[in-house]
Parts: sequence; structure tokens; C-alpha cells
Amino acid sequence: MDELDFENRIVSPTEIMGDSDSDNPLRPKRLEDYIGQDKVKQNLAVFIEAAKQRRESLDHVLLYGPPGLGKTTLSGIIANELNVNLRITSGPAIEKPGDLAAILTNLNEGDVLFIDEIHRISRAVEEILYPAMEDFAIDIVTGKGQMAASYHLPLPHFTLVGATTRAGQLTAPLRDRFGVSLRLELYTPEELALIIKRSAGILNIAIENDGALEIASRSRGTPRIANRMLKRVRDFAQVMSDGVITLKTAQIALERLEIDELGLDSNDRRMLTALVKYYRGGPVGLETLAAAIGEEAVTIEDVIEPYLMQIGFLNRTPRGRCITRAACLHMGFDLPDAQDGQIRFE
Ligand code: ADE
Repeated sequence: MDELDFENRIVSPTEIMGDSDSDNPLRPKRLEDYIGQDKVKQNLAVFIEAAKQRRESLDHVLLYGPPGLGKTTLSGIIANELNVNLRITSGPAIEKPGDLAAILTNLNEGDVLFIDEIHRISRAVEEILYPAMEDFAIDIVTGKGQMAASYHLPLPHFTLVGATTRAGQLTAPLRDRFGVSLRLELYTPEELALIIKRSAGILNIAIENDGALEIASRSRGTPRIANRMLKRVRDFAQVMSDGVITLKTAQIALERLEIDELGLDSNDRRMLTALVKYYRGGPVGLETLAAAIGEEAVTIEDVIEPYLMQIGFLNRTPRGRCITRAACLHMGFDLPDAQDGQIRFE
């Protein structure tokens, strides 16, 4: 599988063509329709209600966690619940300080500005963001030398919702300016089954409970993957049987898509195999492992590893990555000497 395929694989948690974007009918619009992330939901409900009671803008919110868990969806919900407009942009899309200034000066009082991948904004842009977040104002300098003039431009009170897969990469001053910081977790199969049934209802797809749970348990804790798999399994159900997604049709379809019972695809298997074959199960450093399988270290860290760690297949230790006994059993690797759950391929 080449790099392009990797980005477009069915289990990719990042957005791919066909996921459709902001007017995706599968996106819940209200907090009460949002399934899972209970802690995040409960806290957000309080903060939103309190801001509304005080007739103030909501404090800035940082959402972080693996891709595909609903950060954009949540920002839309926050705007809906506050009855304000949502403006969506991303760190890499804001190239110059002037781009951000243009966005900020066009906001209305109370609006939500969503910046995806906020860890990727440049230093120069970040400098504008500080006073904008803290004092709702920006300072603009025009002209040069003796003609230089500086204007203090007040902004409407707005709520910045920043999203990142890597909270650790934000600078401390930026992180400190978010009053609310929420971590999204991978979903349980039961939560994903509810999401799948909700989506099936919206898309008019007939699905049985165990069919939904089968797709859910192969969706790597990620709603975006679950919804994408639902659409592909529907194709098989339609062509191979009477259109109803049963346990059997889900199993056959997912086998044809080469996604195993736990949702691992060829990339996960490739990484686990390399860990055992070249590094005796670890520990091995992230960069070394990345080079061995020809992937970027960040891709491994953000996309492949969270799920492998959630299902107990991989440990991150101070000395590097280690495969676990459970992973060896699943993959059918010989079980060498195991101590403390950690494998020694000596
Ligand atoms: N679709 C995607 N994520 C969802 C969620 N958390 N709840 C309901 N529907 C969703």
C-alpha cells in the first residue's frame, strides 16, 4: 500500500473524499444527540448554560485527542447551543497574520471560531491570536519607518474552539489562553453501535443490532470510521442479500475489505510484524520503527498507535515501543518469554 492509499484506506480516521463535510447529515446538531464522550458533554453543557445565563461569550475551548472523534462536530454543536454563527478554518489555512485579522474582524458578537489543527499555526499568526483571545483586540501596524502607525482594533467577543491531535505541541502561552480544555477519548464498541444505528436511521439503511455491533467493534473506536464502514457494508448487503445489514453480511463485507475482527488493517499488521521481525518485539524508538515501515512518525503516533494501545496491543515505554502478549496471540506470532506483560524475543 503506498502513501496515498494509506490516507484513503477505509480505516483512516482522517477525513477522506466521500466523508462529506460541514453539512454532513450524520453530524448531530445538539448536545443531546451526541453519543458518547459523556464527561466532555456534561462539562460542556454546564459551561454553555452558564455563559448563556450571564449573557457572555463562552470561554475559549481546546479539544484534543485522536482524529475522527468529532471535534468539528462538537464545535458545530457549541455554536448551535449558543445560537451563534460558526466560522471554520484550520491552522495551515491561515498563512499570514492578515488572514487571521480578516477572519476575526468579520465575526459577530458571541460567534464561534473553529480552528482545526491549531498546533500548525505559524508563530506570527499565534502572536495575533494572543491579544485577540485575551483582550478581544488586535494591534495592526501599517506603513514603515516614520510613516508607521499602529491601530488598536477592538473585536467582538467571540469563542475560539481550537482542535488538535497533539496538545503537547501547542506552545504554553497558547495553551494557557484556553479556559476550557477537553480531551476526547476513543469510543467503546457499544457507543459506536449506537452511532451506527443512528446513522443507519438517517440514511434509511436497515440494520440488525448484531450487525451494528460487528461494524462497531471493527471501527477502531472512531465514529468517522464507523460511518464510512456502514456505507461500504450497505453496498455488500444490497448486492449480496436483501439489503439488510445482518451479522453475517457485516462479517462477509468486512472480510472482503480486509479489516479483521478487531479493526486492524494491513498497516497495523505491517507495524506489528515489523516490531517482531526486526526488533524482537521492542523496545524500539518511534523514529526507527517509522523508518522501517516507511511511514511518518507523526502518522504512527496519531493514527496507528492510539487504537493499538487502547486494545492493549502496544506499550509506549521510556525505552521505546513494545508489542504485548495479546498482540502476539492475535497476530499468531510465536510467544517467546513474556515478563510483566512485556515480550522478550531473546
Ligand atoms: N456521528 C459522528 N459522531 C457522532 C457522535 N458522537 N454522536 C452521534 N453521531 C455521531
